Amino acid sequence: MDFIACVNGDFVEYRQALVPAADRGFLYGYGLFETILVRAGRPELLTRHVRRLAGGCRRLALPLVFSVERLAALVEETVERNGLREGAARLTWSAGPREGAGNLVITVRPLPYGPDDYERGFTVALSGSPRNEKSFLTGLKTLNYLENLLAREKARREGRDEVLFLNTAGALAETSAANIFLVRGNRLVTPAADQGLLPGIMRGLVLELAGEAGLGPEERPVGLRELSTADEVFLTNSLLGVMPVVEAAGQRLAGPGKLTARLGRLVEEACRGTREDDGQSRLY
Ligand SMILES: Cc1ncc(COP(=O)(O)O)c(C=O)c1O
Repeated sequence: MDFIACVNGDFVEYRQALVPAADRGFLYGYGLFETILVRAGRPELLTRHVRRLAGGCRRLALPLVFSVERLAALVEETVERNGLREGAARLTWSAGPREGAGNLVITVRPLPYGPDDYERGFTVALSGSPRNEKSFLTGLKTLNYLENLLAREKARREGRDEVLFLNTAGALAETSAANIFLVRGNRLVTPAADQGLLPGIMRGLVLELAGEAGLGPEERPVGLRELSTADEVFLTNSLLGVMPVVEAAGQRLAGPGKLTARLGRLVEEACRGTREDDGQSRLY
């Protein structure tokens, strides 16, 4: 099927969705993106995604010529024009050839994960290259993804689903496309935002919902050795939601666990909008 893409507000066939060769996103990875889950025809947590993109642009001093409302509307329209019920939408804002001439591209694709993945749980390799917690780019969803991509491809060739990065101090940071959580007793532990990671939208939602699973959230430096003694380990990102981890860095782990599954259900309920009356206007 040939999908329809949105380029700077126009809707075109995917193969006609082109940006100029002089675009600094193409030349230097100068730009930002968002990957958004589409469920029942609706982009989930959309407000959070467009706000993060706009916030990232401010931090990069990259002018964003679309308002967050317009961006959200264009994502919704792209999903609708494609008749997409379940899948992923990608919103890319690249710097363009010169200041003030950025390029917006919105595309959609099918979901890469299915129910079998959640039943079996992910296996996670350990990357040999450290994540630089001191680089401010680490906390932004920029177009610079090559290190993540190559590390994940290597892990997949070796039969693992994902790859874990440690920071320069040897503590847990994140995986190539997800944040990591450990359940330890009644605590839900995750590396703090200054540990060399993108503070994911799903990470934020899971921390907000932890209390409902009877868990106290704890953001702090997390040592590699804590993995093997954790009761449960899981990954989060916007497409995965909550994915159990059954093996990490060569160690077999307990799980998939009950609290992981409970948090996964809480996330689904929250995204379905059944909790919109809890003071969070337009949670999605
Ligand atoms: C490196 C990295 N860390 C964390 C995440 C999780 O972010 P989110 O929950 O916003 O999808 C992602 C998502 O793609 C990622 O690429």
